[in-house]
Amino acid sequence: MAEVTTKASGARRDRAILVTGAGGELGHGLLRSLSGQVDEHGEAPCVVAIDIRELPAEQKSLCDDSFSGDVCDEGLLSRLLASYEICEIYHLAALLSTRAEFAPETAHSVNVGGTINLLKLAAEAATSHGRCVKFFFPSSIAAYGLADLETKSAAGAVTEHQHCTPHTMYGCNKLSGENLGRYYAGHYRKLAKDRIRNPIDFRSIRFPGIISAETVPSGGTSDYGPEMIHAAVKGEPYACFVRPDTRIPFMTMPEAVDSISRLMAAPAEALGTSVYNVRSFSPSAEEFMQLLQLHVPGSGEHIEFDPDHARQSIVDSWPEDVDDSAARNDWGWEPAHDLHSAFEEYFMPVIKTMYGKHDVQENR
Ligand code: SER
Repeated sequence: MAEVTTKASGARRDRAILVTGAGGELGHGLLRSLSGQVDEHGEAPCVVAIDIRELPAEQKSLCDDSFSGDVCDEGLLSRLLASYEICEIYHLAALLSTRAEFAPETAHSVNVGGTINLLKLAAEAATSHGRCVKFFFPSSIAAYGLADLETKSAAGAVTEHQHCTPHTMYGCNKLSGENLGRYYAGHYRKLAKDRIRNPIDFRSIRFPGIISAETVPSGGTSDYGPEMIHAAVKGEPYACFVRPDTRIPFMTMPEAVDSISRLMAAPAEALGTSVYNVRSFSPSAEEFMQLLQLHVPGSGEHIEFDPDHARQSIVDSWPEDVDDSAARNDWGWEPAHDLHSAFEEYFMPVIKTMYGKHDVQENR
């Protein structure tokens, strides 16, 4: 039985936005942007969070209700459905790409089974209150799988429709989630007589590596970017697990959160597809290290490249960049940063404040 900590009464069927995986990196940023957000009726729905672990106090304070529990726990989801009029879902809970390779079947249960559970909950909520439920699903660059480095280099920036042949369980799961979302949104229970048409408004973004200045990720394969930068500011040595020439796209956490808000606010008729690429910059690991060296002089001496063959093969199967023109055209996506401004305006000021390293002199 999941532990329940309730701030609101929970007895009325208040309108609610549900966030799963709320304690993760993306949840951390997203809760801030959802808290107090006013909907199209001029009301602020409750924010209800689920995470496998109890939320830290700061995140809990941004929610009206929080549950420690598993997205595979159908009993927990039924209780949520009974307690709230769920109008919007942000389904962030997942096992990331590196962790998933150690336990692929468990990853499938959480990443696909959990997603089905949430989609079903959304459809049931829509049936119960008679309105379409908006559903956000974070997909990933891991949905791509390029055969080898020659293919990667020749492909350049890939569109949403190219190379969708993932090499990881996480990538397979994300692609499944995208397809399931499309199914629940447009075709759910096609042959049933009591079918409700279009119960879900499903929207998804294929994220590149995301770098937060406030948190360090775990379990992912794009983690070398954030790990390198946090280690450098802390003055710790870092062994980068990919080659210097490794290139994939990245973005900052505030840009990731902003992209979700923009996509979810877009009018449905503007959206030509349900899954969109976004990206801000696409440096090689070496270019990333060189810029870091400018901002944290001497840090380069403490960074070594010690590629891990298996993790390298995952990153080598991801594209060196993605084509985000559909997001730009349909809902006005625009990155806030290039690599230089991300360092100057976001990473350095925020990370130095976090670790109390204002004395680090920049070499620019
Ligand atoms: N950051 C994710 C991972 O590395 C990719 O979306 O697994």
